[in-house]
Amino acid sequence: MISKENEREVKILAIESSCDETAAAVVVNGRDMRSNVISSQIALHTLYGGVVPEIASRKHIEKINQVIEQALSDAAVTLDEIDAIGVTYGPGLVGALLVGVAEAKAISYAKNIPLVGVHHIEGHISANYIENPKLKPPFLCLVVSGGHTHLVKVVDYGCYEILGRTRDDAAGEAFDKVARAIGLGYPGGPKIEKVSHEGNPNAILFPRAKIADGEYDFSFSGLKSAVLNYLNGCRMKDIPINQADVAASFQQSVTDVLVEHARHAIREYKMQQFAIAGGVASNGVIRAAMEQMCMEEGVRFFHPSPILCTDNAAMIGAAAYYDFIAGKRAGLDLNAVPNLKLGE
Ligand code: KG4
Ligand code: ZN
Repeated sequence: MISKENEREVKILAIESSCDETAAAVVVNGRDMRSNVISSQIALHTLYGGVVPEIASRKHIEKINQVIEQALSDAAVTLDEIDAIGVTYGPGLVGALLVGVAEAKAISYAKNIPLVGVHHIEGHISANYIENPKLKPPFLCLVVSGGHTHLVKVVDYGCYEILGRTRDDAAGEAFDKVARAIGLGYPGGPKIEKVSHEGNPNAILFPRAKIADGEYDFSFSGLKSAVLNYLNGCRMKDIPINQADVAASFQQSVTDVLVEHARHAIREYKMQQFAIAGGVASNGVIRAAMEQMCMEEGVRFFHPSPILCTDNAAMIGAAAYYDFIAGKRAGLDLNAVPNLKLGE
């Protein structure tokens, strides 16, 4: 249902704090990004080799007001001009989510602005709307992030059919764990991509997992174990480890699995449009392979720029707009739901 609100400018203030980025943005009509402020905690968590939930929550509290003020000021709007507040309420780290949710509820109550709760994955998918004005459902979307690997049929705005998901590690999690194992540190994805440019993707044949009873499901824990076994084997036999070759070969294995799953779904569901989303979608090798596959299949390919692939609030503003015009509203009893399922 599209109401009259669709005919005028709807300005959404969006807030995202589900993991280690404190972010706020102003998005008009779901597509026009007027500001996008991200305060990243990556440097802080790098000291510990991964995200420390308690530290993340505390840092969100310190930064949240600042990023919201900056987002409003960059967009040259005041709270009085905001039509709705969109906030991520799950999935994610509960303490981190609560900071954004509490802030959004406080502003909604104080300024009497409608509140919209947004699913984080729906946000990642919606990042594609911002830079691709022509993209409209239906389309197939592969969401690959640190916490999720989902192959989703976007049937309509806010309407999703999950075709496949990971059975164990998410794709980004595999990048992070393998990066740690080869001594690259956190966050693994960008570091593996960088060193892989110096390596040979065919140097080591790592497995490409297939799930017998779920043709669109993924599994990355076997690949991670294969990399660890390879490293142990080299160490035991005193064979020097070529970090770049391991990184490039691992990345190629992930890429091949993602591309083949997507190709299969495009054919079976006769999709005309394919999009990628999430932090891992900023990987240039994966992106190029997807583009090539879409060209071969005669399908239009969409992807957000890297800054809109990793966590940000503009994507939450895009998703919130379509929920808002469909009449969805959250009450002041909105709570953080760390295991929120897509479509709930
Ligand atoms: O979407 P995101 O910012 O947060 C979650 O919702 O999880 O994704 C973060 C994940 C991390 O695992 C990170 O290593 C991965 O995305 N990532 C990448 C790249 N940039 C970030 N993985 C592969 N290649 C990259 N260039
Ligand atoms: Zn994310």
